[in-house]
Amino acid sequence: MTTTDRPEVLVNCAVSADGRLAYAGGRQAKLSGPNDLARVQWLRADVDGILVGVGTVVADDPSLRVHWERIDRPKGRSPTRVIVDSVGRTPPGARVLDGSTPTVVAVTDRCTRTFPPQVEVIRAGSDRVELAQLFAELKHRGMRKLLVEGGGEILASVLAGGLFDRMTVFVAPTVIGGSTAPSMVRGPDLPESRPSAPLVLVTSEPLDDGVVLTYVPAGSPNAPARPLSGPTHPDGSRAEP
Ligand SMILES: NC(=O)c1ccc[n+]([C@@H]2O[C@H](COP(=O)([O-])OP(=O)(O)OC[C@H]3O[C@@H](n4cnc5c(N)ncnc54)[C@H](OP(=O)(O)O)[C@@H]3O)[C@@H](O)[C@H]2O)c1
Repeated sequence: MTTTDRPEVLVNCAVSADGRLAYAGGRQAKLSGPNDLARVQWLRADVDGILVGVGTVVADDPSLRVHWERIDRPKGRSPTRVIVDSVGRTPPGARVLDGSTPTVVAVTDRCTRTFPPQVEVIRAGSDRVELAQLFAELKHRGMRKLLVEGGGEILASVLAGGLFDRMTVFVAPTVIGGSTAPSMVRGPDLPESRPSAPLVLVTSEPLDDGVVLTYVPAGSPNAPARPLSGPTHPDGSRAEP
């Protein structure tokens, strides 16, 4: 599927240095520092839609709004919130259903729940939400740029399906550890040992004592012809590319 069939899709998330999205049991972790929070607001301000899975809505109750005051920018148009929710598990009191911003809930044929009138419902799929079908529908409705913010199951589907153009990951200077803290990408095990999404690193920038890594899918026209830099020697120096 190419961007002619779907919006341009940017993936963004924050992880600990051991690749965890949240604390034990999925409890929300505030991993971003002030500059990364501002970076995310800039990303949000630049897209037409912000998508998360219902797992994130249940765990974090995010508003998915642009906080214009954090980026010192005059208030602009609010991106549409998109919730991926096969059977309608979004809690009735969730902030994403507050009617303050255009909101789409993507469901399947299994969903019998009714949503408040200000929420638009898109049916895509019979068992789980078919993301390719949903993205095509969003494009058809005029969405040009979509930001996918998680969580781990949604990231698994988006990455394994090749449904993205760029991914930025803020890696925080902390380790969460343990056995129940979710890793960045969840989803089913693959039948053989192969990466679900081969990537090319495009940039690596220090931010808030952490680092922001920007990747594109391997083989994408945006992938650089050469790796970002040569291997690092144990003494910290870099080999000539
Ligand atoms: N650090 C960060 O940047 C960040 C960002 C976001 C979230 N998080 C964390 O991530 C955790 C939530 O992640 P999660 O993995 O539990 O939930 P999630 O990815 O937010 O949502 C997953 C749910 O979406 C529904 N879904 C429907 N169709 C799907 C499809 N095609 N592919 C994948 N999911 C589909 C499924 O529920 P149904 O079957 O009921 O539809 C699935 O259980 C929380 O701990 C949250 O704090 C962290």
